[in-house]
Amino acid sequence: MTIDLPPAPAPDAAGDLVTGFPFPFPEDRYRYSTNVEPAGTPSVTAAGQWGAAVVDIDAEYHHELDARAAVLASDPTRHAVLPHMVPAAWDAMLTLMRELALAYPDHMHLTATGPDTWQWRNDLLGVEADFRYGDQATLGEEPLRYITSQVQEDVALLDQRDEQLFVDAGVITFAADWSFGFDVGMSFLEIHGPVPRVKKMGVITRAHEFLKRLQPHQPYRRTNWTLTIGRRLDVSTEIYPEWGPDRETIAHVDDTEFGALVHLRVEVQHLIRLPDSGALMFLIRTYMLPLEQLAGVEPWRRRAADVLAELPADMADYKGIIKYKDRAAQWLRDAAPTPPSPEPH
Ligand code: HEM
Repeated sequence: MTIDLPPAPAPDAAGDLVTGFPFPFPEDRYRYSTNVEPAGTPSVTAAGQWGAAVVDIDAEYHHELDARAAVLASDPTRHAVLPHMVPAAWDAMLTLMRELALAYPDHMHLTATGPDTWQWRNDLLGVEADFRYGDQATLGEEPLRYITSQVQEDVALLDQRDEQLFVDAGVITFAADWSFGFDVGMSFLEIHGPVPRVKKMGVITRAHEFLKRLQPHQPYRRTNWTLTIGRRLDVSTEIYPEWGPDRETIAHVDDTEFGALVHLRVEVQHLIRLPDSGALMFLIRTYMLPLEQLAGVEPWRRRAADVLAELPADMADYKGIIKYKDRAAQWLRDAAPTPPSPEPH
């Protein structure tokens, strides 16, 4: 067996990962839709809640930032800022600092020190910077790279021109089966070209029209989901040979290992119009919960089993889960709590 499972989070952290998990299924059946809603208010689930803030820090903070740094060190194409996107990168950095300071006032501090100078302090990382907005020498690093070393979210920046959106900048280290290096410079419509069904359903053209009209200070959010094997964040196309074979080997593990290895992977995606540059910021925050923990929340166990069992083959194939999604559904059904045995009389 060659599937690596990184160390499980500490028990209290594991609790946090369940209560904050953004369970993505409002119905027993899943289909693509332009599922956007205003951001910033908590969404209540059967185990807790998620989405109180646009940026989310949890027990995996240090681990995920280390993982991002390792990916960027080994593959520089996960970070790109096309020349016309430099103002958007500054706008994104300051917007994220504001969001962090708002959501975590005990640990994150942003102070204006002059008309265009700022002080930033992140006490969780022991990081401090005095910088002039737009002057990279004062920050010491490209601003998108700087701020993505302090948030768990992946960030893409889209330029709007000629009635279209283009993915022209980003730091994306945890892509679920796509390649940022390949997609950078492509339009929103081109990027979604391979997604089955959505053309006929008008999902992507509707989303495109919606995004082009998005206003500053009105963030929206949506979720997307898939399954992954192990707690591997970087399942990008670039390194497919490292994780792709797990989709075959998972067939040979026993049921206990299957429940520990197969994770429901959910992306909370925030869509934000940046106030100064007019660019669109797309945040992708990835959460993973193994089936064995998902099954501990009874409504989630039943709902996820129904969705996976019913999911049409073309969608399952596109998500890369066709070979094991039926077993995942059965595993969840078999994990039903056993009714108490009748009292002997
Ligand atoms: C994939 C919808 C915004 C980049 C997808 C999929 C859907 C979708 C339905 C297929 C997912 C799956 O089966 O797992 C939407 C909607 C959006 C939105 C409704 C906005 C309201 C964005 C934005 C970006 C983006 C702003 C910018 C980077 C991608 C990428 C993929 C994807 C890279 C994977 C494509 C591939 O397989 O190569 N999206 N999306 N999406 N989306 Fe979006």
